[in-house]
Amino acid sequence: MLNTQILILDFGSQYTQLLARRVRNLNVYAEVIPFDKTKADLEKYHNLKAIILSGGPNSVYLNEAYKIDKEIFNLGVPILGVCYGMQLITEMFGGKVELADSQEFGKAKLYIDDVKSLLFKKVSQNSQVWMSHADHLTKMPEGFKQIAHSDSSVAGISNEKLKVYGIQFHAEVTHSEQGIQMLKNFIFDISKCKADWEMKEFIENKIKSIKEIVGKEQVILGLSGGVDSSVAAALISKAIGKQLKCILVDTGLLRKDEAKKVMDLYNKEFEMDIKLVDASNEFYKALKGQVDPEDKRKTIGKKFIEVFSEQARQMQGAKFLAQGTIYPDVIESSSNGHVSKTIKSHHNVGGLPDDLKFELLEPLRELFKDEVRAVGKELGIPDLMINRHPFPGPGLGVRVIGEVTKEKCEILKEADDIFINNLIEANLYNEVSQAFVTLLPVKTVGVMGDNRTYDYVVALRSVNTIDFMTASSTHLPWEFLDKVVNEIINKVDGVNRVVYDITSKPPGTIEWE
Ligand code: XMP
Repeated sequence: MLNTQILILDFGSQYTQLLARRVRNLNVYAEVIPFDKTKADLEKYHNLKAIILSGGPNSVYLNEAYKIDKEIFNLGVPILGVCYGMQLITEMFGGKVELADSQEFGKAKLYIDDVKSLLFKKVSQNSQVWMSHADHLTKMPEGFKQIAHSDSSVAGISNEKLKVYGIQFHAEVTHSEQGIQMLKNFIFDISKCKADWEMKEFIENKIKSIKEIVGKEQVILGLSGGVDSSVAAALISKAIGKQLKCILVDTGLLRKDEAKKVMDLYNKEFEMDIKLVDASNEFYKALKGQVDPEDKRKTIGKKFIEVFSEQARQMQGAKFLAQGTIYPDVIESSSNGHVSKTIKSHHNVGGLPDDLKFELLEPLRELFKDEVRAVGKELGIPDLMINRHPFPGPGLGVRVIGEVTKEKCEILKEADDIFINNLIEANLYNEVSQAFVTLLPVKTVGVMGDNRTYDYVVALRSVNTIDFMTASSTHLPWEFLDKVVNEIINKVDGVNRVVYDITSKPPGTIEWE
């Protein structure tokens, strides 16, 4: 078991994962668990130093509101309630929370009433915080005092004797200017946590445990070239060497030269045992005549399982199936199923046929994406591979709009490669969250030299986002776009027009399909 010092009880806030990441970035291992755990459940964490109650969309005064086991307050560890968490503390200690006349959303000023409170050590007066609440505290809970307020609500409470604190604002978001300092105060000064969560140590422990679990058995892994499966493979390979057998399926829907690049790096440099399976024609054949995005996704997912299963069958005797599952994929749902739902892509090779019975090996399941990257870096994977933009499971299958053909995929691969290489050269690649090209199923008229052309249109898309749930299009410099468009038109046969998509999400999605 990892050295969990902080448990975050999840009431369904969109910021719960961010809270955990903030704590871990301070080198303290934090875990998110459903709110409905009992004191006994929490006592199983032997090194527990503090509990954070997250925000959530509920109102504490409603019958169906999420409540916690009151015994948790007798665990003897400091507790910090954030937003809903503070309101829950208020309600549970006899205070009152009601719907406010005016809601408080966005930036607000924080006025500290108790400058001696440890929670506000090194925090200046009038700093900006981020609010997101419709309810507010109208009667103080027993034994608590107000330690801060905003222009319209009580913004902080504490019971120093019990070491229970509440803040109405979200310290974890960057708009709360001194939020990290407050979290530091809670974690180190109030809760006495030790900053001992480091990737080097994680890797050493993981290698040891992979060796123990796997023994002399064999492990298979579907390598996609994406960050998660690559880092998982590198870690497992470091532990058990050639007992790890990777399968790389070239679906024909990968980026230009992707399979070759993955082979060059992981097979040649990292000396991993990788079987490259060129199944591109099978995928193109299966996709023939399909135009509906969801049908295409299903076809690609099904085909992938089929090809992968066949390869897995041929590798007789493998006991384990390794996957690059990461923490956001596994954050548990609460028993009533309302909090933090799990979303899985077909990359995780769910739905293997019944005759293939593997034990799962998921060495990254405790890590956030930035931690996975840190592990990859530590293992020597080049920056360019580690900091890659996300690539959808169905790949170019959803970037060739309408029917997918080999010819269209080849055109798209060339155009996309030009866009991405230009972003890298201009030092813009790491400034944007995701960039790619989409091929449209329309031909338009153009002129090249003295000749009329009638070719495809491609669309460039580049977005900036924190969580991929909302996104805005990148304001790429005009000269840069000009250069990319010119290069695509001149070098890619079959394209005579390039457009730049500036739709934000919502209302658009990031991918076109
Ligand atoms: P959308 O288009 O929904 O995309 O705004 C959000 C993020 O998800 C990726 N995406 C997918 N990833 N399978 C995946 O594994 C899919 O079917 C899929 N569709 C979209 C998209 O690239 C973006 O990062």
